[in-house]
Amino acid sequence: MKDVHYSTYLQLDKILGAQFPESDKNEQPAHDEMLFIIIHQSYELWFKQIMHEVNSIISIMLKPSLNDNSPELQTVVHRLRRITTILKVLVQQVDIMETMTPMDFLDFRDMLRPASGFQSWQFKEMEARLGLKYEHRHGQEYYVSQLKPEEVAIIKEAEKQTSLLELVNAWLERMPFFDDASNWKNFISDHDKEGIPFYWANYRECYRESLVSAEESNLRLFDNIFLNDAEDNSRSLSAKASRAALFIMLYRGYPLLHLPFQLLNELLEIDEQLSSWRYRHMNMVNRMIGLRVGTGGSSGKEYLKSAADKHYIFRELSQLTSFLIERRKLPVLPVEMEEQLGFVHR
Ligand code: HEM
Repeated sequence: MKDVHYSTYLQLDKILGAQFPESDKNEQPAHDEMLFIIIHQSYELWFKQIMHEVNSIISIMLKPSLNDNSPELQTVVHRLRRITTILKVLVQQVDIMETMTPMDFLDFRDMLRPASGFQSWQFKEMEARLGLKYEHRHGQEYYVSQLKPEEVAIIKEAEKQTSLLELVNAWLERMPFFDDASNWKNFISDHDKEGIPFYWANYRECYRESLVSAEESNLRLFDNIFLNDAEDNSRSLSAKASRAALFIMLYRGYPLLHLPFQLLNELLEIDEQLSSWRYRHMNMVNRMIGLRVGTGGSSGKEYLKSAADKHYIFRELSQLTSFLIERRKLPVLPVEMEEQLGFVHR
């Protein structure tokens, strides 16, 4: 085997030879443009790594055999955690960008038009693979308007494929213990005379009792989300999947639910870190360009604020916390089920 050399292996000649400030080309050198280029390049490298993790998670979750006892679920959680760790670094990197002052930026800003971070196709591909749907995007036509045709094709292809959110929905729907043929099966899946699964009819009652008068309309929401699939087809999580997710959140102390809970938690962490990045980026933009339009031609801060508000990918999971009740009021699970979930040994 041939010896591997550090700089050849890392292709440093390409990476370190890829910084060409526009201000140099225009013979008006602006010191901070090097920082501006390098920070964008490092973001793009991290986006690439995130996509590497997202694609591997998706290919694991596409396997119908994936269940909660398999080592692969551990791999999924581990890789999701790597993504959130990278995202935290991306949020922190805004600090470095902010060492550039608005006046330093003005030295070269106009030379960049119409280029903008808005043209980062990797960022949009990442959003789509995670599960952001075209219908839920802010500025639908605008969001690909400034990309090259080959970049638009990548994003459209990403939108066509099964997203992580869709796979999470399918995984939740086939939670193994819900379909288990043991004694406690009826407890979860049998229905009362109104067609509501017994456990959930019981839980609904506990939830109803926990509501203060200003929250009474939440009960309708509860029914829409957990019991009536047909009513709202704009939702990404089915009623069955939403019930499984809520069950995991409620009974996460049971060993069998540890990993599923961590998986859900990491998805919420991805949304939280992406949102932190959006807000930090938006505030930095405000500080840097104030009310001026972006180099990409958007309304700048206003556009970014609306995208930040709309682009929570796992919003439906985070909304489930509205339906939690206190631990001591939780319906008691049958012993057979507790055994199955891993605590009681007889
Ligand atoms: C001086 C620093 C920066 C300024 C003033 C700035 C400004 C803007 C503005 C105004 C937009 C809205 C689109 C437009 O009209 O251009 C935007 C979008 C965007 N920028 Fe930046 N940006 C900066 C740094 C960065 C960095 C370091 C990244 C890292 C990749 C980045 C990534 C993005 C992305 C991904 C979008 C699209 C966001 C979305 O559509 O939700 N920006 N930026």
